[in-house]
Amino acid sequence: MSSNSLTITDNRTNRTFTLPIENGTVRAMEFRQMRTSDDDFGLMLYDPAFMNTASCRSSITYIDGDRGILEYRGYPIEVLAEHCTFLEVAYLLLFGELPNEAELKNWVNEITHHTMLHENTKQFMENFRYDAHPMSMLVSTVAALSSVYPEARNVHDAANRLRQIKRLIGKMPTIAAMSYRHSVGFPYVYPDNDLNYTENFMNMLWRMVEPKYAAHPVLARALDILFILHADHEQNCSTSTMRAVGSSLADPYLSIASAAAALSGALHGGANEEVLRMLDEIGTKDNVPAYIKRVKDGHGKLMGFGHRVYKNYDPRAKIIKWTAEQVFEVTGRNPKLDIALELERIALQDEYFVTRKLYPNVDFYSGIIYQAMGFKPEIFTALFAIPRTVGWLAQWQEMITDAEQKIVRPRQIYTGQRTRSFVPMEERHGASMVK
Ligand code: SDX
Repeated sequence: MSSNSLTITDNRTNRTFTLPIENGTVRAMEFRQMRTSDDDFGLMLYDPAFMNTASCRSSITYIDGDRGILEYRGYPIEVLAEHCTFLEVAYLLLFGELPNEAELKNWVNEITHHTMLHENTKQFMENFRYDAHPMSMLVSTVAALSSVYPEARNVHDAANRLRQIKRLIGKMPTIAAMSYRHSVGFPYVYPDNDLNYTENFMNMLWRMVEPKYAAHPVLARALDILFILHADHEQNCSTSTMRAVGSSLADPYLSIASAAAALSGALHGGANEEVLRMLDEIGTKDNVPAYIKRVKDGHGKLMGFGHRVYKNYDPRAKIIKWTAEQVFEVTGRNPKLDIALELERIALQDEYFVTRKLYPNVDFYSGIIYQAMGFKPEIFTALFAIPRTVGWLAQWQEMITDAEQKIVRPRQIYTGQRTRSFVPMEERHGASMVK
C-alpha cells in the first residue's frame, strides 16, 4: 500500500477504505463509496465557504500564506513589480511566459486598439442616475457588452476567446473612467492611443479642457505597479465566481460582470473603499486605541486587515507601502497614512490580532495612495477590477480548457421539512410564520 494514502474505517460498516493522496489532497468523490446500504447516496464532505476545498488545478498564481509568498507563473511578485509593466504581466498571466520585445509591442498595440466603446454603450451609461456608484455602472456595462459581441458565447473557439480577452482588457479602463466621470458629472473623455495603458486611464479620468493630457510619470508608474499587484490572486471569491459562472458556458462578458459583482463586496475588493471610511471615522492617531478596543469588543472589523490565505504580511501590502512613499513625494503626504501606520503598529503587537494572524492585506494601504493620487473612494474598487480582469480571464481560460472541469454544482445538507401534507387556502387559519 502506498504511504501516500489515507486509510479510513467507516465505523458504521467496519469497512476500511484507502484513498490516494495527490498534491496534498484526497478526491471528495472517493467518499461516495462509503455507504451503509446499496441505496445510500454515500458520504459527502461539508465545507461551508470552501475553507478547505481545492476547486481546480491551476498553474497561474502561487501563494504561500504562511510565508507571505506570491508568484505569477513562478515569478515573485516583487520582481515583476520592479521590472515589468502591467500589460507585460498581463501577457505573462494569460500565456504563461514573459513576452519578448516584438510580442510585447504587438500585444500593447492590440490592447490599445480595443479601448473604444461602441457609442450605443456610451449612451447606455448616460442613462444611469447622476450619482450611480461606479461599480454598479461597471458591472452593468460589462454585462451589456455581451449584447454588442454576441459571438463571444463561442467560448470553445480559441481565436474568438482571445479577441474577447483583448476587448475586455482594453475596455475596462474606459468603462471605469466613464463610470467615474458620470458620478462626478463630467463629460466622458475618449481614449488617447498615444498614451500607455495607465496614462490613458488617467487621461480618461482627469483630462478637462487641455488638448492633450500629460500624466505625471511617477504617478503613472505607481498606478502600473498597483495594477500588477492586483492582477491575480488564485481562487479568491471573485475568481471563483468567474470560474463558476464561466463553467455554465456563459460568455466572458457576463462572467466578468459576475466576478466584478463579487469583487464589489466590502469583505473583498470593496474593502479598500471601506478602509478610507474607517480612517475618516478614526480621524486622528489619538483615536486609534479606542477604535481598536471597539473592534476587539466585536464592534466591526479592522478593514484592510486579515486574509483567508495570508497568515503573514501580504507581500503586496509591503510593495504598496513602498509605492506610497514615491507617490507622496509628488502629491504630498496623505495624513491618513499616519493613522494607518499607528493602526498597524498597535495591531501587530496586540494579542487579539496576533493570535488570529491578522496582518495588513492588499487593501489596507492602496486606498491611501489612490486618495493621494486624486481618486475618490467610490472609484477604488473599479481600480481593483481593471487589473483583476486579466486574472479573471486567465483563470476562466484555464477552466474552459481543463478537461477535468464541468459545470459547477455543489451539493447541500438539507435541513428543511419533508413531504408535508398540502393545506388548502380555506384551512390556513393561523398567521404565517413569514413577517
Ligand atoms: C481581498 O481571497 C483573496 O485572495 C482576496 C484578495 C484578492 O487579492 O483577491 O486578497 C483581496 O479581498 C483582501 C481582503 C479584503 N477584506 C478586508 O480587508 C475586510 C476585513 N477582513 C476580514 O473581513 C477577513 O479578514 C477576511 C474576509 C479578509 C478573511 O476572513 P476569514 O478568512 O473568513 O476569517 P474569519 O472572518 O473567519 O476571521 C477569523 C477570526 C474571527 O475572529 P473569531 O471568530 O475567531 O473570534 O479573525 C477575526 C474574525 O472576527 N477577524 C478580524 C478581521 N478579520 C478576521 N477581526 C477584526 N478585523 C478584521 N479585519
